[in-house]
Amino acid sequence: MGVFKWPLFFVFLWFKVVQTEASTWTATVPSSVQGIDGCFVVIPCSYNYPEPGKQITGYTGIWYTKTDDVIYHKDKNRITQEYKGRTELVGDITQKNCSLKIDPLKSDRGPFYFRIELGGYNQYSYRKNEVSITVISAPHPTVSVKEEVVEGQTVSASCSVSHSCPSSPPEFTWTHSGEKRFQSQQLTDGQWKATSVLTFHPTRDDHNKPLSC
Ligand SMILES: *[C@@H]1O[C@H](CO)[C@@H](O)[C@H](O)[C@H]1NC(C)=O
Repeated sequence: MGVFKWPLFFVFLWFKVVQTEASTWTATVPSSVQGIDGCFVVIPCSYNYPEPGKQITGYTGIWYTKTDDVIYHKDKNRITQEYKGRTELVGDITQKNCSLKIDPLKSDRGPFYFRIELGGYNQYSYRKNEVSITVISAPHPTVSVKEEVVEGQTVSASCSVSHSCPSSPPEFTWTHSGEKRFQSQQLTDGQWKATSVLTFHPTRDDHNKPLSC
């Protein structure tokens, strides 16, 4: 009796191996991504498809809202007005990477889904793999000028602003010439503190003159 059980066992094993190796129409995206209002956000995404067994002649990756508005397409004319110029496919679409960048982020909560069109083969909408964005609002900048003036000596004034987008830090302009130093410090909660320190030697002309940043 035992002799007859072995072939069945091997058939089962072989079937398991084939099943796990075969690719299917699947996409991997987080269900939610956090982003800061006015900053950029990247939605990590990878997709897969069954082995075509023939040459794929072209890759078209499209991102949609749940209500089927196009938010990314390589043909810019097909992108809905609200998203024109703000979306970019940063992943290598030919390497099954469908990562999307939205810059700057507005009140784009989604949910969104990806669709792939493989030239000469097939196409698929990964509607089941939705990704939403949680938009955190950027705080209002606070500017403070600190002055420590000692007559006849060097004056250092500093101007700080808290921001939340390291990819586009603030620029500082002073109403007085001098040596400028820029400092950036990471705070908690995705916040950054940018500081500009101006150092100069006050002259008689500077007396009672306002200094601003
Ligand atoms: C997909 O592309 C993005 C952007 O270039 C990259 O950061 C990410 O590591 C890539 N993902 C994979 C799985 O290769």
